[in-house]
Amino acid sequence: MSKEKAVLAYSGGLDTSVCIKWLIEEKGLEVIAVIGDVGQKRQDLDFIQKKALATGASEALVIDMREEFVQEYLSKALFANALYEDKYPLVSALSRPVLVKHLVEVAEQYGASWIAHGCTGKGNDQARFEIGVRALNPNIQIIAPVREWDLLTRDAEIEWAQARGIPVPVTLASPYSIDDNLWGRTMECGILEDPWAEPPSEVFELTVDPEQAPDEPEYVTIGFASGLPVALNGNPMSFLEVIEALNRIGGAHGFGRIDMVENRLIGVKSREVYETPGALSVIAAHKALEELTLERDLLRYKHQVEQDWAAYVYDAKWFSPLKQALDAFLADTQTFVSGEVRLKFYKGSLRVVGRKSEYSLYDFDLATYGEEDSFDRDAAAHFVELYGLTTEVWARRQGRAQRPEQ
Ligand code: ARG
Repeated sequence: MSKEKAVLAYSGGLDTSVCIKWLIEEKGLEVIAVIGDVGQKRQDLDFIQKKALATGASEALVIDMREEFVQEYLSKALFANALYEDKYPLVSALSRPVLVKHLVEVAEQYGASWIAHGCTGKGNDQARFEIGVRALNPNIQIIAPVREWDLLTRDAEIEWAQARGIPVPVTLASPYSIDDNLWGRTMECGILEDPWAEPPSEVFELTVDPEQAPDEPEYVTIGFASGLPVALNGNPMSFLEVIEALNRIGGAHGFGRIDMVENRLIGVKSREVYETPGALSVIAAHKALEELTLERDLLRYKHQVEQDWAAYVYDAKWFSPLKQALDAFLADTQTFVSGEVRLKFYKGSLRVVGRKSEYSLYDFDLATYGEEDSFDRDAAAHFVELYGLTTEVWARRQGRAQRPEQ
């Protein structure tokens, strides 16, 4: 009888390498490793593919998900100006669903009854993988070796790996847990677990220390069409290229570092450090253009939707009817979000210094205090009179009674 198959989300690191061997040895499964390219920097994907095969996977598929990640995932995050707890642009929370989609596709294609991931029981990613799989194909079973095995310490895991000939990377000297993709880089563990400790400079890769950044500011103009970046400094570019360029430029000016204590889905607070120069600058520019082009009530309402969207996506509900409906709302808001935004990077800071749009709702003649002023002041007086009417009636009848001392 042929073995049952498991499709494993493989990163090339120690955990998922041990997962391959463990699934084979402990569960008697055949393992198909899927290596998703979502724009992560550090790794040579061919090398990772060979490593998966050498560790015992029967297949190792490298899948380039970058374009899809940008079109289907980052675009929606940008429409939502998505920042979890007002800070974190959801780097990992956005990449998990695209990985899940491919894991499920591969499982269906190969007739695998299992999908496996290398997440621990403490994080958000386990929920994102598993709820994603259940949303896309509830017949597939999930297996989470790291949550199940009894290799409780890093040392025990290394020993287990070495005993089975799994190469243990030198990067293990680094105590940090890193995840990265086009949208940025996440760092946890080691000294970062102490929320009082300043992150050591060695943890940063995409950004220079702001103190070391150039003394000259750099200006960048981003062109948008219906909510998506289409040009940088006047040169037509894809969204993907714009993100890469902004990661480079923002990073060179020390912009994009985030240091926060965030609330994980499972109820634990954790100290997280991120560097996301591209994501934060494109979101800042997009927001500035929305300020100019979205009508007031829509803008206010959208802001609430944005916060819900970010929390929901963080909380592993990418594939869900509410999220889908919010996406439809957000997409509808983007029709006139076209124009240009000028950014200024300087020593760790980013400022929006200019914005323009052919759909701008900013009306100079209405806004100016100069000679061109066309605003009707009498109308304002009448408006304020009626607008304040309920307050006045309340004050006359009840307000005083509530404040007897006055
Ligand atoms: N705290 C972030 C999130 O939940 C980052 C998680 C990074 N994941 C990892 N396996 N290192 O989205």
